[in-house]
Amino acid sequence: MKFFIDSANIDEIKTALSWGVLDGVTTNPSLVAKEGKKPDQMYAQICEIVPGPVSLEVVGLSTKEMVEEGKALRKYGDNVVVKLPMTTASLGATKELAKDGIPVNMTLCFSPLQALLAAKAGAAYISPFVGRLDDISAVGMDLIAQIIQIYDQYEFDTEVLVASIRNPIHALEAALMGADVATIPFKVMEQFAKHPLTDKGIETFLADWKKVTHA
Ligand code: G3P
Repeated sequence: MKFFIDSANIDEIKTALSWGVLDGVTTNPSLVAKEGKKPDQMYAQICEIVPGPVSLEVVGLSTKEMVEEGKALRKYGDNVVVKLPMTTASLGATKELAKDGIPVNMTLCFSPLQALLAAKAGAAYISPFVGRLDDISAVGMDLIAQIIQIYDQYEFDTEVLVASIRNPIHALEAALMGADVATIPFKVMEQFAKHPLTDKGIETFLADWKKVTHA
């Protein structure tokens, strides 16, 4: 499973890159707004430092606007993936962008039929939001299982990119289900490495080592 970081924060992206486990980045308008900087500057920097795919979202809602914005976003690099919200307008935009070899990440997916439409339109990635489904008392991960089943059954190439991950269990379940990608907030990714028994083990090893070397 590929790890993308769900962030527009340069420090977080650089740190995750330094761990050697980062395959790409996803952003959205809310994550960009959180940084309080000009999007232009941030997009250029992110696309330059990240070797893998970087999802940048359009804000236009018509097919024409989405296609124009999507093409314009590619000025930041060949690694730009155009992120479109799941609507009927974005299906046409996906088809057009894909025809020009521009990969689309269809976002804000909350149902398996939305995912089926996105795949048929030629999206490179589908982003089902598991945390936001959990928020309304649905089971977000059930959607992932359904999408994987449909995509496998009909041999779609669209990659399942699990989004709105809120905790390590979401990521673990995504990996067990065979999702292609998980996009993970920095704090959650950091949690993957942590275990109290690891900390305790390090403490004990260092204390025992001191006994031998300071004897
Ligand atoms: O990638 C989509 C993600 O950023 C949404 O996460 O936590 O705002 O639902 P969240």
